Amino acid sequence: MSPKLTSPLFPLLILITFTSLYFFSSFLSLSQTPHSQSLAISNNCDLFKGHWVFDPNHSTNPFYDGTCPFHRNAWNCIRNHRQNLTLINSWKWVPHGCNLNRIDPVRFLGLMRNRNIGFVGDSLNENFLVSFLCILRVADEGAKKWKKKGAWKGAYFPKFNVTVAYHRAVLLSNYKWQPKQSEAGIEDGSEGIYRVDVDVPADDWAKIAGFYDVLVFNTGHWWNHDKFPKAKPLVFYKAGEPIVPPLRILDGLKAVLDNMVASIQKDFPRNTLKFWRLQSPRHFYGGDWNQNGSCLFNKPLEENECFLCIDRLIAGQLDLWFEPRSNGVNKEARQMNRVIEEALQGTDIQLLDLTRLSEFRADAHPAIWLGKQDAVAIWGQDCMHWCLPGVPDTWVDILSQLIHDSFHRTDVL
Ligand SMILES: *[C@@H]1O[C@H](CO)[C@@H](O)[C@H](O)[C@H]1NC(C)=O
Ligand SMILES: *[C@@H]1O[C@H](CO)[C@@H](O)[C@H](O)[C@H]1NC(C)=O
Ligand SMILES: *[C@@H]1O[C@H](CO)[C@@H](O)[C@H](O)[C@H]1NC(C)=O
Ligand SMILES: *[C@@H]1O[C@H](CO)[C@@H](O)[C@H](O)[C@H]1NC(C)=O
Repeated sequence: MSPKLTSPLFPLLILITFTSLYFFSSFLSLSQTPHSQSLAISNNCDLFKGHWVFDPNHSTNPFYDGTCPFHRNAWNCIRNHRQNLTLINSWKWVPHGCNLNRIDPVRFLGLMRNRNIGFVGDSLNENFLVSFLCILRVADEGAKKWKKKGAWKGAYFPKFNVTVAYHRAVLLSNYKWQPKQSEAGIEDGSEGIYRVDVDVPADDWAKIAGFYDVLVFNTGHWWNHDKFPKAKPLVFYKAGEPIVPPLRILDGLKAVLDNMVASIQKDFPRNTLKFWRLQSPRHFYGGDWNQNGSCLFNKPLEENECFLCIDRLIAGQLDLWFEPRSNGVNKEARQMNRVIEEALQGTDIQLLDLTRLSEFRADAHPAIWLGKQDAVAIWGQDCMHWCLPGVPDTWVDILSQLIHDSFHRTDVL
């Protein structure tokens, strides 16, 4: 423990911190007008800030096991015999100043009766969805696979008439491969382009407005030169014409976000509860995914005993891994979050800031236990998606709490 703990000043400092945090958060909630807030706050408690506490009881009663029919093989860490999975799931997320309750699937589906929840984005949102489906199935064993309206994957819970589904749209905007044409102004050496129409939502979710009562968007780990190398670059179009001068990848992300957010604001009903999930961090250690990067950890990262450095003047272990200024392998999540937060300002889309709580969990990825021979040799370790059961179950606890708060408020009004 930190030597600071022995100082007689310490309790006083804690008191001052919490008092100022309290006033600061009350100030925040007072200054929020409906529909202009961005960070989702539950009963004056910020569920996104806190720490992981070791609690062996947390893992004794998982909601689901390796037999859940909604699993995706590579994330099914029980079936793939991921080492130390019980240990991984013995950590409980405890927000500063309140408790995060585990979801009560029966109560939650009761609240959701005749309502639907949709996820739109990349495989990290699918990871989230699988956890959600396996947990909700506890309340309705008759859950059926559901696939309609461009949905990639989902389930229908007949007891409650609730659908929960995922629409895969990795860039959110429409994009398609265009092989090189001789006269096109494409840089030498390229084989063609991926044309991204920044103002056109991908078909997979273009027609879902009105069907879902809750939506969770994300986009993230496709915005890089691994997925779209120089020979196959992204080229951004607007109103059917190439944008000039051509946008670099991060500016392309900005253009896509601005346009997709505008189209969500225009086309989706006001009373649809909208969330945007911030980046899920990766944990490649010692190199990137294609450089033998590894995540064989047996406990969460530590933040450094730096209790009062709310302004983050002092870098902890997390900052060394993730802060763009320290230029680590995993820096892109925070970079992208800044762009996303800016694009969402002034909208009715709430931030689901699951980044920081997930940053701690270097221990919770499938790593080398991918359920397939040669997978590691070909793809490297998976230090990006999450083991299930695992960290996304905590995401579900948080999301369900926020949905509950929100519908409860509306029902009372
Ligand atoms: C774990 O559960 C047991 C039995 O329910 C209880 O006695 C014990 O206090 C719990 N431990 C913690 C750390 O909550
Ligand atoms: C099921 O929910 C939908 C809304 O998602 C509603 O239109 C439909 O009437 C409901 N069906 C029943 C049988 O209540
Ligand atoms: C990764 O490890 C393999 C086997 O140990 C080795 O042959 C290869 O050179 C390493 N690759 C990199 C990029 O370090
Ligand atoms: C599993 O946990 C044990 C004990 O903490 C540790 O020695 C071992 O390295 C862990 N394995 C992995 C893959 O983290």
